[in-house]
Amino acid sequence: MAASFTPAEQQRRPSSLSAALRLESVTVRFGGVTALDDVTFGVAPGEIVSLIGPNGAGKSTAFNAICGLAPVASGRVRFADTDLLALRRHKIVTAGIARTYQGLQVFPSLTVGQNLTVGYHSLRRSTALAHAARLPRVRRERAAASERAHWVAREFGLDALWDREVSELPYGTQKKVDIARAMVSEPRLLLLDEPAAGLPQRDLDELSGLVSSLNTRFTMSVLLVEHHMSMVMSVSDRVVVLHHGRLIAEGTPAEIRNDPQVLEAYLGRDRRDSHA
Ligand SMILES: Nc1ncnc2c1ncn2[C@@H]1O[C@H](COP(=O)(O)OP(=O)(O)OP(=O)(O)O)[C@@H](O)[C@H]1O
Ligand SMILES: [Mg+2]
Repeated sequence: MAASFTPAEQQRRPSSLSAALRLESVTVRFGGVTALDDVTFGVAPGEIVSLIGPNGAGKSTAFNAICGLAPVASGRVRFADTDLLALRRHKIVTAGIARTYQGLQVFPSLTVGQNLTVGYHSLRRSTALAHAARLPRVRRERAAASERAHWVAREFGLDALWDREVSELPYGTQKKVDIARAMVSEPRLLLLDEPAAGLPQRDLDELSGLVSSLNTRFTMSVLLVEHHMSMVMSVSDRVVVLHHGRLIAEGTPAEIRNDPQVLEAYLGRDRRDSHA
């Protein structure tokens, strides 16, 4: 079931800023384990695509392949016109891709504002020397980054918490800070690895609303890994299903919900979410 974009999909949410991601026949091996086996799928500009599958299916490995963190044995990974496999790891953010990891990647002893402005360092174009000399360009970059961080904080409803230390905040709010932090680098594609894991039920709806509005509010595409099927089904334009490193199904949430192979491989047996 190879992925390909129809013209309608390409134009569903046209955006000059977001760009297409494409994995083609990607294989990743760790010793004797084939974590991804000839996997092909894509994310069209402005699309929200979910990657689902049981534990060990290869979902995080797919993220790592996109970010230059997995040993890709064969295949291609492209983002717009960029060959991601040829990019140095630290250039992934500059290419327009941001990511959150499983669990939390915040600095607990820093404030919300400090966590958000940390993203500035991956954006900056000035050299360390220019920073030491405090050149006007550096000042302009700092001002733009601070403005962007404040704007993201407002969009995420975090502005009132700007000066609060992150460790004092509930887990759900810390996760919001984690996602907001990724947004400061102005990504055209955001990779979210299990953002709902560990969240209390009352925070799930809010997170679903946030994720489903990201592509239009921030003009970008989203690739989501998530085990909470209620969230996957409500936010996704398309769903890609991995099982033992292979792509076994791809389609709209309605198609995936009724796919016998998916039910057998995933939803039927490893149902972690009673709302599936
Ligand atoms: N760095 C690594 N070294 C060795 N094996 C690895 C490594 N990363 C992943 N694997 C293996 O690759 C397979 C896919 O793992 P991956 O973490 O991508 O699964 P996943 O779908 O993200 O699972 P989960 O839902 O539990 O997060 C697993 O068998 C895993 O043990
Ligand atoms: Mg994972």
